[in-house]
Amino acid sequence: MSSVTLSGVRKTFGSLEVIKGVDLSIDAKEFCVFVGPSGCGKSTLLRMIAGLEPISAGSLEIGGKRMNDVDPSKRGIAMVFQSYALYPHMSVRENMGFALRFAKVPKEEIDRQVNEAARILALEPLLDRLPKQLSGGQRQRVAIGRAIVRHPDVFLFDEPLSNLDAELRVHMRIEIARLHKELQTTMIYVTHDQVEAMTLADKIVVLREGVVEQVGRPLDLYDDPANQFVAGFIGSPKMNFLAAEVVDAGAGAVTLKLVKQGNALLRLPLGGPLPLPGDMVQLGLRPEHFVGAGEGDVDLTLAIDVAEHLGSTSFVYAGSASGEPLIIERDGARHHTDTSAITVAIPARQAFLFDSEGQRLR
Ligand SMILES: Nc1ncnc2c1ncn2[C@@H]1O[C@H](COP(=O)(O)OP(=O)(O)O)[C@@H](O)[C@H]1O
Ligand SMILES: [Mg+2]
Repeated sequence: MSSVTLSGVRKTFGSLEVIKGVDLSIDAKEFCVFVGPSGCGKSTLLRMIAGLEPISAGSLEIGGKRMNDVDPSKRGIAMVFQSYALYPHMSVRENMGFALRFAKVPKEEIDRQVNEAARILALEPLLDRLPKQLSGGQRQRVAIGRAIVRHPDVFLFDEPLSNLDAELRVHMRIEIARLHKELQTTMIYVTHDQVEAMTLADKIVVLREGVVEQVGRPLDLYDDPANQFVAGFIGSPKMNFLAAEVVDAGAGAVTLKLVKQGNALLRLPLGGPLPLPGDMVQLGLRPEHFVGAGEGDVDLTLAIDVAEHLGSTSFVYAGSASGEPLIIERDGARHHTDTSAITVAIPARQAFLFDSEGQRLR
């Protein structure tokens, strides 16, 4: 297991800069997840760590050693891709042992390593099958097995579960969490799925257009997002944003006018620096933070678009007629129908505030 440190890392393709100066330290044994929308540079960053893509500027250290110009095979890493990249004509056993055979490791040692990886991944009954005789989840386990036998200091995963159906994805997610516990190896895992990020990570790195927006523990990002992008990206269903105008600011509080909610007024505590009267801001509230009518600081009555009753909880999609659709989570609110209205309240102390640039106001 090794630490991984990036300092001022940049990547340009021709004149296009896609990684714009990333500073990041990942501790030994840590499970670090890169998350962000498609095209933000997650794979490029991972491929630079792997050595599959040259680093345009900045430095990469693995285990305290500069790796910028070190051959991929000498970096102590193993990578698992979304496409399993198995050799179709080789059995599971041969696929898993391939890198070791290539490195001229003695046969008994290869067998020992392959059997151990097969045990960890519950692949023992499948060792003599060909890839085409396996399910998608089994193929992905073989691809992981092929990485395990190399005993890397750092595992790199690029969207390894994206090709699997929903049920299998949940199953494999738990398998990967268990694997990390058992192997105690540094893992860097790329996904666009914020649920995978929340459940697997010790540390999440949220990327947007080649820039790190925030780094932190999953629940710290959820509870304390640095900006509107992170607030909106982490959490499912997403945080609601309500357009608001500052009416009054002073003495550690602001009064907001919710301009698309009938100009309802809401007073919010704020440490400062305070925005100015007339400033447009965004009020953020997570779906589960709405409370019942009269139980918060301002009531909103909204026409319901769709009510989804999941049994354990209900999601009410409402208010699209006002131009500001909101998602409200209410457990125990099974009586709402698509044709009724709902009255809920916003508790000011649960709300987040963002300036017009999307930066958090605290
Ligand atoms: N070889 C390449 N040549 C030119 N542009 C590339 C190349 N690889 C990736 N890009 C661009 O870099 C950006 C980041 O891509 P990528 O790292 O694959 O994103 P992600 O994995 O987050 O979806 C995208 O705009 C993509 O089009
Ligand atoms: Mg990618």
